Amino acid sequence: MKIRITEKSNLSKIDFSNLGFGAGLSDHVFICEYKNGSWGEGSIEPYGSLSQGLGLHALHYGQAVFEGQKAYRQKDNSIAIFRPEKNLKRLNISAKRMLIPEVPGDIFINGLTELIKVDSDWVPKGENQSLYLRPFLFSSSEFVAARPSEEYTFAIVTSPVGELYSKAVKVKVEQSFTRAASGGVGYAKAAGNYGGSFLATHNAVKEGFNQVLWTDHAEHNYLEEAGTMNVAFVLNNKLVTPILSDRILAGITRDSILTLAKEWNITIEERRIKVDELITALKDGSLNEAFGMGTAAVVSQINGIGFNDEIFSVPIPKNGIAMRMKKALSAIRYGESEDKFNWMYHI
Ligand code: COI
Repeated sequence: MKIRITEKSNLSKIDFSNLGFGAGLSDHVFICEYKNGSWGEGSIEPYGSLSQGLGLHALHYGQAVFEGQKAYRQKDNSIAIFRPEKNLKRLNISAKRMLIPEVPGDIFINGLTELIKVDSDWVPKGENQSLYLRPFLFSSSEFVAARPSEEYTFAIVTSPVGELYSKAVKVKVEQSFTRAASGGVGYAKAAGNYGGSFLATHNAVKEGFNQVLWTDHAEHNYLEEAGTMNVAFVLNNKLVTPILSDRILAGITRDSILTLAKEWNITIEERRIKVDELITALKDGSLNEAFGMGTAAVVSQINGIGFNDEIFSVPIPKNGIAMRMKKALSAIRYGESEDKFNWMYHI
């Protein structure tokens, strides 16, 4: 693979003692182009501008999908990525839905591996820190006819990150806007799913919430997912989470938590959850805890849920399922405990 090293590193501009989420991008990118029906080899380049003009297809028609994943500094100073094959699979599920050519596995894995090797100094060493990896795939022909693009670009940028939410979050049950409808693209990690959600989130933030808790498109009666994460509830000590559908993103953190929960003999219910059931449980105290799960959000406790004009408090136990899951995942990710499920891909 061709590797072109930057002449001017930005590493010294990063305050590793105070990492937020997603602002400082690392020195290099992986980029690979799809032209004339096939993928090129891909190369590592200094972070910089695109060469396309304003006719760029993705800007007009939004054939664009992405992934979120992380690389972790291990106890022995080496680096490992969490479940990259799952991200590859999901990227290609998203691509298929958006009529984008799938990315071959070797391009995806070699691109990630070589990029992390080149920017290994960007992988942070602090507690709860990691290198966020953002593979993305977009239509890169230049024309304005409303038809699929002929050319596509697969790229990866990375960014050293801390926690997305450093404390418990408040979510608002959304009763007017809709994130996804049946038959739509909700299960794909399509760029537009996020762009389309920003107005509702912006409104919720103005009301003092951190995120929206989406409900179904038809009646707003059933819980779906939160803006940046899947959600789970501990109801009468059972772990209950909305069952996946074509409106919900199949979270890799969600899958990992359900795998651990099975291992720990926790009763799991993947099913439709009525908003009414949640509100009743909030009122009668049978909701033991609630949390979000995602690559960026990791495991984020939910301490308040807004519905109509009320805000209900949710317990945030120190040693509940959420915090035990967070600790267990962290130990696996940083190489501090046995990787029983073979989740870590070592660079
Ligand atoms: C992730 O968790 O990786 C996401 O993609 C959510 C958000 C930061 C867009």
